[in-house]
Amino acid sequence: MTATISRSVQVNLRESWWIRDIEIPTRVVLAPMAGVSVQAFRRQGRRYGAGLVCSEMVSCAGLHHGNERTLGYLRIASDEHPLAVQIFGSEPAVMAEAARMVEAAGADLVDVNFGCPVRKVTKTGAGATLLDAPGRACRIVESVASAVSVPVTVKMRRGLEDGSRTCLELGPSLVEAGAASLTLHPRSARQMYTGRAEHALTAELVSLVHVPVVASGDITSARRARAVLGETRVEAVMVGRAAQGNPWALREILDGPDQVPDRDEVAAELILFVRETVRELGERRAAGFLKKFYGWYLRGRFPRQLVQELVRLETTDEVAERLLQEAPGAELFLQRLESELPIGREVTLELPISAYGGG
Ligand SMILES: Cc1cc2nc3c(=O)[nH]c(=O)nc-3n(C[C@H](O)[C@H](O)[C@H](O)COP(=O)(O)O)c2cc1C
Repeated sequence: MTATISRSVQVNLRESWWIRDIEIPTRVVLAPMAGVSVQAFRRQGRRYGAGLVCSEMVSCAGLHHGNERTLGYLRIASDEHPLAVQIFGSEPAVMAEAARMVEAAGADLVDVNFGCPVRKVTKTGAGATLLDAPGRACRIVESVASAVSVPVTVKMRRGLEDGSRTCLELGPSLVEAGAASLTLHPRSARQMYTGRAEHALTAELVSLVHVPVVASGDITSARRARAVLGETRVEAVMVGRAAQGNPWALREILDGPDQVPDRDEVAAELILFVRETVRELGERRAAGFLKKFYGWYLRGRFPRQLVQELVRLETTDEVAERLLQEAPGAELFLQRLESELPIGREVTLELPISAYGGG
């Protein structure tokens, strides 16, 4: 108990750790989240101190077929590194091909998804289903690891059913197959997001493998982050839902409380996020995609009806205009933020099309 407490006090979250030869500058990782982890989200996460960011899960079948939208997930900006791109699928050879494309696009790590509990994914034999198919899961990792020279990592859940301890058997086999790091979200697939992430299991996994382990699930504050780091001896904690519309949560987790932003800062970050997302997805797609972010950013910080107003506006320019009316001081913040962003050639927003032979 004493040892646990002293480690939790001592852990410096702004300290580097390594996945093989990749240096991760802090012990906070931004979680991959489908429908959330666009480039703008990841770049913002890096600015607020995440040592590593990750794309949302990318379909290896989509990459294989040259699906344009899927290929778009491989756009990587220069200020995102280190960055992992996560792939999902069930065929070792197709996963290996996808991993090569991810490496060619410039990712520092290829992450393999063995955790997605959504039926659309599990019914194809991918995601969390692979927790119950250890032979195939290991073949996927082996095949991906031998296809690329960057480190391959795996993110998984505890198992399919509640109370499952599958991850403790599978984890060491995945390391033997070539995984350079494991991230555990210790909920079952059946649980989806209910109940609690049981990090006692994460501690057991740490004791069974010699590669870095990352703890995912319910890391929402500096206190919780330090407790989990101390109790499990993971190398890093991963933050997901707490960072939705709230990059300040990352800063708080790294540097402690007193990191509450004022309204001008919140509005400025949201406007920048809106503009960057439009650059990435185009106005039409971005306008719909962004609606959920308005509530995430503004709830509890601005009058409730503002969110309802914003989601009804037609264009993202109108959204920015309305936000500036509500928080005029955001303009100055925004100018500063935009002046600090790398511009032009420093940022790689376009796909290196040649890597895929077109499309
Ligand atoms: C909207 C949403 C989308 C997610 N998408 C992915 C994904 O694409 N890949 C993945 O490995 N995990 C995904 N997750 C799981 C998160 O990465 C994380 O493990 C989980 O949310 C628990 O962490 P949290 O309590 O910090 O949110 C997603 C979670 C949410 C809420």
